[in-house]
Formats: sequence, structure tokens, C-alpha cells
Amino acid sequence: MNNLLKSLIYDGKKVLLESGVKNAMDEARLIIKKTLKKNELEFINNQDLKISSKQSNSILHNFIERSKGKPVSKIFGFKEFFSNEFIVNKNVLDPRPETELLVELTINILFKIKFKKISLLELGVGSGCLIISILLFIKKNKVSALGVDISNKALEIADKNIKKFNLEKKLKVKKSDWFSDIHEKYDIIVSNPPYVKTSDIKNLDKEVKLYDPFISLNGGFNGLRCFEKIATNAKFHLKPDGIILLEIGYGQMNSVKKIFEKMDYKIFLKEKDLQGIIRVVGFKLKKNFEC
Ligand SMILES: C[S@@+](CC[C@H](N)C(=O)[O-])C[C@H]1O[C@@H](n2cnc3c(N)ncnc32)[C@H](O)[C@@H]1O
Repeated sequence: MNNLLKSLIYDGKKVLLESGVKNAMDEARLIIKKTLKKNELEFINNQDLKISSKQSNSILHNFIERSKGKPVSKIFGFKEFFSNEFIVNKNVLDPRPETELLVELTINILFKIKFKKISLLELGVGSGCLIISILLFIKKNKVSALGVDISNKALEIADKNIKKFNLEKKLKVKKSDWFSDIHEKYDIIVSNPPYVKTSDIKNLDKEVKLYDPFISLNGGFNGLRCFEKIATNAKFHLKPDGIILLEIGYGQMNSVKKIFEKMDYKIFLKEKDLQGIIRVVGFKLKKNFEC
């Protein structure tokens, strides 16, 4: 490898293109920038910079990792989501841009609720990107929140992100198999549960099937298993007038609606993402339940 910065960009682009990375040029630039810890301006202004062989070797190593399918986020341990950088690793789902819609809608609903302290529960908290993004937008003391996950290793990352964003007082996380260890009722429950059919996982991009945890993707034989479990139990954990907001997969709207309607909920929200796919649905109970 040549070690002028601008040559490294083209070498990187070539390596990544050959291995089928779609935005090879952008990704090569990103990998170099992140390896050298340079911001965009420093990067643009230093195209003729000579890169030491130690740094060139690190960059080459990262190009090779990326060419094997490892996402840039998992090479460097950070992913941007809702304008913040979250810590990630192999034990958590890489935060997805489409999940930002669920964040936005929850924030809008929270803004409309006046004069009341809100309790918020996230099922399947993963890295914590969803609930942390919500909390960062909402005034201090308005919301108290709990995030649960079945994966201890995901909870370790959620904890790191809670500390990174100084949310220790507002957000707790703990292990629970959906509602198995939840004993309270909540005003708002949010979740982006695993919703890929088990048989479809092998057809996903290698960035996903090799580097996102299977448990964060696997929605069972029909992709709906987690929605069924959540619908069965959420009614016992919603306060009067409580709501549940869910991210769903492509084409799942009617099936998810049926599951929830069968269990005495009514749909009050369905929202499309930027691709025109219904990505978020919201349910309320037809009547309130006692534990
Ligand atoms: C699609 S990921 C969502 C992660 C994160 N909330 C996000 O939006 O990026 C689903 C999460 O649900 C968790 N999960 C899977 N099965 C679960 C269960 N039975 N109980 C609780 N969490 C579960 C996974 O470990 C994973 O962190």
C-alpha cells in the first residue's frame, strides 16, 4: 500500500469494491478518518499527508475487516443514531436509521403530555440507543424509565451508554425475558423487537447476519413470535390510558394489528418510514386490566 492519504483512499475503495461493499469510496474515507481520528475538515485539508507505516497497517487491517463484512460501527465500537454516538459491539444490534422514527414519534407524544410524570418501559433495550435518544430530548424529571433485555451482554453495553450520556438517575436497565421480571405498570411501552423470520436470516447482508446477534433478529418461524409475547403480557403492565409503540418489519402491519386486536387492544397510530413502509404502530387497550 502507498502511504499518501489520498492514495490510501483509492486503495481502500478498490479493496472494498472488490468485496462488494456498496458505498466503497465513502466507507474507505470513513475508515481512514476514524483510524487517524481526524475530523472532516482535517481530512480534506490533509490529502497529501504522509501516513506512517504503523498507521497504514492499521488502516489496511480495518479495510480487510470491512471487506469481510464487519460494519464500520463494529470495527470502531461506535454508531451514530439520532445525532449521537452510541457505544456498540458484537452483542448488540447496530442502531438502524429506521428506528429513529419510533424515537421521533415517542418524543412527539411525550411533548404533548403536560403536568404529569411519565413512566416509560423499553422491551429489548439492546445498546440503549432508542430509550436514551428519547430521554435526551425530554426535560429532566419528566420521565422515569426502565429498559430490559434478555441478553446480559447487551445490558452491559446499555449500561455503558447510560453512563456516557449521564442518565444514571433517569434510566435503569435489568434482565427480563420480556415481562418476566417487570412488576410495575407504565404510561408508555416502546419496543423494537426481533422481527425477522428465522428462515430469512441466512439471506440477510453479511453485515447483519454475521455481526448482529441472532437473538436481536430472530422473530421465529413467522417473524411475529415476539409481538405475540408482548401483546399477551403488555396489558397487565399498562396504566389506564397507557400506550404501546412498536417498530415492525416490512409487510407486518396487518398481522401485528390482528395479534393485538385479538388481545383487546385497538390501533391508534401507524406511521410510514422514509421508504414508505409502515414502520411504527401504536396500540391502546380497549379497556383496562387488573394484574
Ligand atoms: C431488534 S433489537 C433492538 C435493540 C435496540 N432497542 C434498538 O432498537 O436498536 C431486539 C432486542 O430484543 C432483545 N430480546 C430478544 N428476545 C428477548 C426477550 N425474550 N426478552 C427481552 N429482550 C429480548 C435482544 O437481545 C435485542 O437487544
